[in-house]
Parts: sequence; C-alpha cells; structure tokens
Amino acid sequence: MQKPFKVAVLGAGDMGKNHIRGWTLAGHEVVSVTDLNPQAAREAAVMMNLDHVTIYQDYREAIADPRVDIVSVALPLVEHAPATILAAEHGKHVFCEKPLASSIEEGIRMREAVEKAGVRFAIGFQRNLAHGVELVKTWAREGKFGRPMVISSDLLQEVRPKRIMHDKFGNQGPVVDTLCHFLLMWQTILEAKPVRIYARGGVYAKGRPEIAHFRELAVDTAVVTVEYDTGDIGTMTISWCLAKDTKMRPRPDRIFGPKGGAEGKFNTFGADAGTEIVLLEGDGEERVPLEQRDLFRIEMELFARAILENKPVPYGFETGLEMLRLSHAVLESIETGKVVELT
Ligand SMILES: NC(=O)c1ccc[n+]([C@@H]2O[C@H](COP(=O)([O-])OP(=O)(O)OC[C@H]3O[C@@H](n4cnc5c(N)ncnc54)[C@H](O)[C@@H]3O)[C@@H](O)[C@H]2O)c1
Repeated sequence: MQKPFKVAVLGAGDMGKNHIRGWTLAGHEVVSVTDLNPQAAREAAVMMNLDHVTIYQDYREAIADPRVDIVSVALPLVEHAPATILAAEHGKHVFCEKPLASSIEEGIRMREAVEKAGVRFAIGFQRNLAHGVELVKTWAREGKFGRPMVISSDLLQEVRPKRIMHDKFGNQGPVVDTLCHFLLMWQTILEAKPVRIYARGGVYAKGRPEIAHFRELAVDTAVVTVEYDTGDIGTMTISWCLAKDTKMRPRPDRIFGPKGGAEGKFNTFGADAGTEIVLLEGDGEERVPLEQRDLFRIEMELFARAILENKPVPYGFETGLEMLRLSHAVLESIETGKVVELT
C-alpha cells in the first residue's frame, strides 16, 4: 500500500466501532472519533487500543481537522447528507453508512457536492461482500438452480432498542434501513434488474409506549415481492414489530429454481458468517463451508485502493440511490395497495 490514510470516524455507536476496527485492520490510521457522547467515543477508540486519538463532540471540528484524508460517517440517517456534504466541501473523501440519505433529493445533493469537490465516495453495503453472496451468485450463473429462480429472505425482530429506528423522520423503519441489504443481495445473485414491486404491510407495533413519543411511526412490517427482468422473483418478510423477548427462530435465505436450490445465511453482518450453505441438486446435498471474512476490513481496504489506484468503488451513489428508490417503491406499494412499475 502506498499510503495509509488518516481517518475521522463520525459516530461511536455500533457502526462507528466497526468503522474504527475496519480502518485499523485495513492498515489506516484513525486520528479522531466523534460522538455527542465523548465517553462513548473514547471507549470505542480504546477498544481498538487507540488511546491517543482526538475525541470530538462536534463533527464539524473533526471534518475541518487538516490531518484528515477520509471522513467515515457512522451517524444516524439524518446526518448522512450534512456530514458528507461538509466533508466534501473540505476536500475530504467520504465513506458513509447505508442507507444513502433521508430522501432522494438529499442523496443527489450529496453526489453533487462530492463531484464538485473531486473527492471519492463509497457507501457501506459490507454484507454484499460476504462469501455466501459470491458462492450463490456463482451457482446461479452456472445454472445449478435453472431459471426462473425465487430467492427469499426473512427478518423478524422485536421493536428496536434504538428507538430512532422507528421514527418516520429518523431512520425510517426496516424498509429503508435494512431491506436495502437484501434488495442488493438479490439482484447481485440473480444478475438481474428489478422491474416491479408489490408489497403489503404497515405499522404493526402501534401503541407501544416505548415508541409512542414519535410524531409518526415508520412502517415496521412488510411482505415484499420484487419481480426481475429475467422472470426471477425476490421475496422477504421483514418486521420490527415483535413484543419484547419474542425470539422467532431465524429462517435461512433460500434460492431455488427448476433444477435445484440452496439454503443458508447468504449475507452476514460482519465477521459472523454462518458456517455453511447447503446446495441441493436432485437428491444430492452438498454442504459448502463459508469463509469467515471481516467484511468491514474488506470494505475499507477496497475504498482505500479505489482512491489510490483511481478505480471504481464497490458501491457508490448509483447503488445508494437505486436502493433508496427501491425502498421507496416498497413503501409506495404498501400505501397505495398497487404494484409499482420501476422505470
Ligand atoms: N451496514 C450495516 O450493516 C449497518 C448496520 C447497522 C446500522 N447501519 C447504519 O449505520 C448508521 C449508524 O447506526 P448505528 O447502529 O451505529 O447507530 P448508533 O445509535 O449505535 O450510533 C450512532 C452514534 O452517533 C452519535 N450521534 C448521533 N448524532 C450525532 C451528531 N450529530 N454528532 C455526533 N455524534 C452523533 C450517537 O450518540 C451514537 O453514539 C445508520 O445510518 C445505520 O442505518 C449500518
């Protein structure tokens, strides 16, 4: 590597800690950690033995710090656009968590600021870098399942402990916050373009005291069907409505077609891959072990290499905007009860 970059990590929550770890393992130097809660920022840094980093409470100071090459945004959704735009205006490259922004218009403003400044930008869809996604994509391409294929995923969780996740004007619920990982995974594996979406759902966790203070709750439950230009179908039940301590057993991702199928956890959060994917062809069954990849280290390495070698980033504005548009189409279908044709 020609140059270790100096990185400012904004946000010291769950993802901020993963960013600090990813950048450090990728061989770059985290020079500051910012959080409204300075104690949380310090603890996050110390966890990676970074005792001497600068702790900021105000991300404007972190961005203005002349040492910084890359700003790594792990803040709540409402801050993605302001932090990215400010960083670009200061000539800093930006790595930003998904989803891209609170609205398409905001996402476009982020892209304009980055292009105007001539800096690089990448968005954190690390789950799509999992070994399982690559493996199942290869099998699909080899025709192991035949065509058309159906790919299905499932995520059922309690009302989120981070309440802002349920705020329609905050993180905007699971359709915006989390479904994007699966929408991206399906089209990666199928190598297909989505053409229409149908979804039903709504706010199922109504009247829960822990989220009653929000002006408006985001849709927390959706049953989603996506049709692709190849005739393949993606489908998911996603919900954050369950009562406390209701632990529904996780169901594996599945893909099948007229010739065969596979099941297992195809994409994973970080270094927590499931151990195997089962490939089923006729009456044959093969258990294929999964590599345990540190997806945060990999995504930071890829972004740094893209900057140094002037290469494309794994996921940038095109993917971020496309996933946001698909999530909005899901919400539109739920609201109108109609199929949404994607143009
Ligand atoms: N890629 C993934 O798999 C994945 C997974 C979870 C979350 N995320 C995304 O990462 C982002 C952060 O989520 P999280 O789970 O880490 O949230 P979190 O609540 O755990 O952490 C956010 C941190 O930001 C701090 N903060 C909030 N506003 C701030 C401000 N204005 N200035 C400085 N600090 C501020 C909070 O104090 C908190 O510590 C979200 O956009 C979320 O959608 C991505």
